[in-house]
Amino acid sequence: MEKSKIVLLGYMGSGKSAVAKHIARERNLIAIDLDSYIEQKEALPIRQVFAKHGEIYFRKKEYEYLLELLGEDTYDIISLGGGTPCYYDTMEQLNQHKGVVAIYLKTSIGELTRRLFEEKSERPLIAHLETKAQLTEFIGKHLFERNPYYQQATLTVLTDDKSPQEVAQELIARLA
Ligand code: S3P
Repeated sequence: MEKSKIVLLGYMGSGKSAVAKHIARERNLIAIDLDSYIEQKEALPIRQVFAKHGEIYFRKKEYEYLLELLGEDTYDIISLGGGTPCYYDTMEQLNQHKGVVAIYLKTSIGELTRRLFEEKSERPLIAHLETKAQLTEFIGKHLFERNPYYQQATLTVLTDDKSPQEVAQELIARLA
């Protein structure tokens, strides 16, 4: 029988990886971060994958590696990259995959701006934005495009003003 898998999705800075780690620790499960898996497989940091091969290559690889992880029994929790659900038929793949529960970590534009401004240099899509106002505008437009995909998740959890540990606790309670 296939084991069930929790898949966390949401915008950059929504806390996917941190929440996955907390759930894994609390429930003695194994979590994997899709970005880290890509970095391992490609032997390059995400930033370099974008710089060297371009975004289209990255999207193809992230889709391939996600399908690989969905097919493996090893991992119980997968945290996606912010853009993963928005390319190809990823949301259908997740929603049709037996045992997968896709969960959207929903964060407001203001909170995302606060969380992302300090660490934007590590993130290829927002590294060029100089001011908080530019970042807010970018996130607003981007979320508008991405929301239709994110909203196909089975569950949505709001993350504003909550620590990753609190979000993890709430999720565990809702999945029980
Ligand atoms: C991306 C989000 C990143 C990473 C890549 C592209 C996106 O992951 O996959 O930089 O398109 O939103 P995180 O959401 O984990 O930062």
